[in-house]
Amino acid sequence: MSNRPYTPGDEARIMTIQRYIAETERNHPGATGEFSTLLRNLALAAKIVSREVRRAGLVDILGRASVTNVHGEDVRKLDVFANRMIINAMESGGQLCVMASEENESIIPIPEEFPCGHYAMLFDPLDGSSNIDVNVTIGTIFSIYRRVSTECRGTDADVVQPGDKQIAAGYIMYGSSTLMVFTTGNGVQGFTLDPTIGSFLLSHPDMRIPERGRYYSTNEGNRQLWDEGFRRYIDYLQTPDPEGSRPYGARYVGSMIADVHRTLLYGGIFAYPSDRRNPDGKLRLMYEANPMAFIVEQAGGRASDGTRRLMEITPKDVHQRVPVVMGSVNDVQEAEAFIAGTR
Ligand code: AHG
Ligand code: MN
Ligand code: MN
Repeated sequence: MSNRPYTPGDEARIMTIQRYIAETERNHPGATGEFSTLLRNLALAAKIVSREVRRAGLVDILGRASVTNVHGEDVRKLDVFANRMIINAMESGGQLCVMASEENESIIPIPEEFPCGHYAMLFDPLDGSSNIDVNVTIGTIFSIYRRVSTECRGTDADVVQPGDKQIAAGYIMYGSSTLMVFTTGNGVQGFTLDPTIGSFLLSHPDMRIPERGRYYSTNEGNRQLWDEGFRRYIDYLQTPDPEGSRPYGARYVGSMIADVHRTLLYGGIFAYPSDRRNPDGKLRLMYEANPMAFIVEQAGGRASDGTRRLMEITPKDVHQRVPVVMGSVNDVQEAEAFIAGTR
């Protein structure tokens, strides 16, 4: 496969997500096809959620214009809708033993009427929910583990594994276009949904994050709540240096997906540190931090809680929170030094 990005009209080279998954499977002689089917089902779920996200504003307008608004609730509760669609799309495939979602208090066992499989999936159905109503990029994050329990329908143990045990992770971004980015531990591939043919096409092969960037991405509204070390780090990024490599630019969408995606492409750092209000950080280890960490590392970057590698943390609870610092290797190492007080 060549690294030249796909450009529209370049039909001879089209690499659909289906073809990519099939070709990857052929390179793993022992593969049963179960995992490939899981990825294909995910791509289908992504298309369904994408369609609803695209319609959301339109349905809202129509709803306001007419007296009866049958869709209004789904629009406001798009995250609940996305949650339901993903569960529906994934529970019947026969590849999963259990799921866990940011939106569900308890784990989601695969119903008895469907066959159960060897994988567990965790997901954040809609990340960036504060941006839903203002037409700003939102997305879905997923993380896949191999079943470790002996229960066909899965247990908590299957969804509370360290990030290092992930066998795949990715996100679907509903931005100016819909993008599905994932890793199976062999680099990071990005596919853009071509709405005219309804297929995801390889648009970002072998994504690599620059070793250093020029942007930082964090919620500066929390500045007075931050620890001293992180505050000094951001001060440092804002201080001009003679070579002109600082100040860094500030970019913060407020959807982790969008902020990490930009960081992957341009380099730099994304951080949601602990602060006085959120002593354990705000982001969820299993639904947000670990899957994004897997992708960032697979793209050549670094992801930690400021002190430890995120994917080495032994989780205790599927909903637990964690501070997050991820992005370009050099930038993250610098942030860690400020947090540790060695700079
Ligand atoms: P979610 O919409 O799934 O609850 O996640 C929102 C998260 C994440 O996407 C983003 O990085 C962060 O919350 C933004 O938080 P602040 O509004 O506190 O900056
Ligand atoms: Mn989220
Ligand atoms: Mn969410």
